[in-house]
Amino acid sequence: MQDMRACALADVEANAPTERVAVFTTKEQSRVSDDYFLGSGDKVRYFYEADAFTPDGKLRKAKALCINKCGHNMHELLPVFKRVSFDERITAVMRSLGYKHPCIPQSMYIFKQPHFGGEVRPHVDGAFLFTRPQSVVGFWWPLEDCTTSNGCLWAVPGSHTRGVARRFRRRHADEVPPDAGVASGTLFDPPEETPFDTRGAVPLEIAAGSLVLLHSALVHYSEANTSERSRHAYSIHVIEGADGVEYPADNWLQRDGGAPFPALY
Ligand code: FE2
Repeated sequence: MQDMRACALADVEANAPTERVAVFTTKEQSRVSDDYFLGSGDKVRYFYEADAFTPDGKLRKAKALCINKCGHNMHELLPVFKRVSFDERITAVMRSLGYKHPCIPQSMYIFKQPHFGGEVRPHVDGAFLFTRPQSVVGFWWPLEDCTTSNGCLWAVPGSHTRGVARRFRRRHADEVPPDAGVASGTLFDPPEETPFDTRGAVPLEIAAGSLVLLHSALVHYSEANTSERSRHAYSIHVIEGADGVEYPADNWLQRDGGAPFPALY
């Protein structure tokens, strides 16, 4: 775990921009700087906390204390994360679930900074890594002990039986408003939001190095980190790449030129 933490921090220090390129806004799952975000599928890119910048666009603290997350191809580009992501124990989990050709479309390192690590609103991962039929499995490892005070995950037991009601995708050309000033963008489809029912949610207060496996339709979220301690975590998402399972061309996460995602086996 220490090597992942050291690698992520060194990478941020060396490569994260110091200007306001991208902010990850967790409320409503909205993002700014769409091109930077949409181009991150085969790169490592850096997303800051919403409150990381002063009004004149300067970082309030050191980069390593302002970063929200890195993504989304750490699993191929950074050897420390590649080793973890393609570990045979992950392969074993996917085989046990009956996957024929699982592949890894994305990886993220989440920092959940002390004091101002933002909340992540209730969501289901099947909305963001959408396949027909649903197949995404999330692997989530806390690299530090998680409690309700430093923003542990919460999950709603039984919510995975309710399915995925809508998905997050790229806009089509005819969906970009003429005054948007951008050529790309994302939206939820359908746009109407039905709030997730989070009654009965339980906090996953777990030790560093634990594994949380996330079903595509499990409602989960995390609250802001109000403590003195960070809550670093690494996650990958695995989908079925076998024939008969569609990964739509308008999913938000694509690789340049439509390159395939790396296979687990
Ligand atoms: Fe998630």
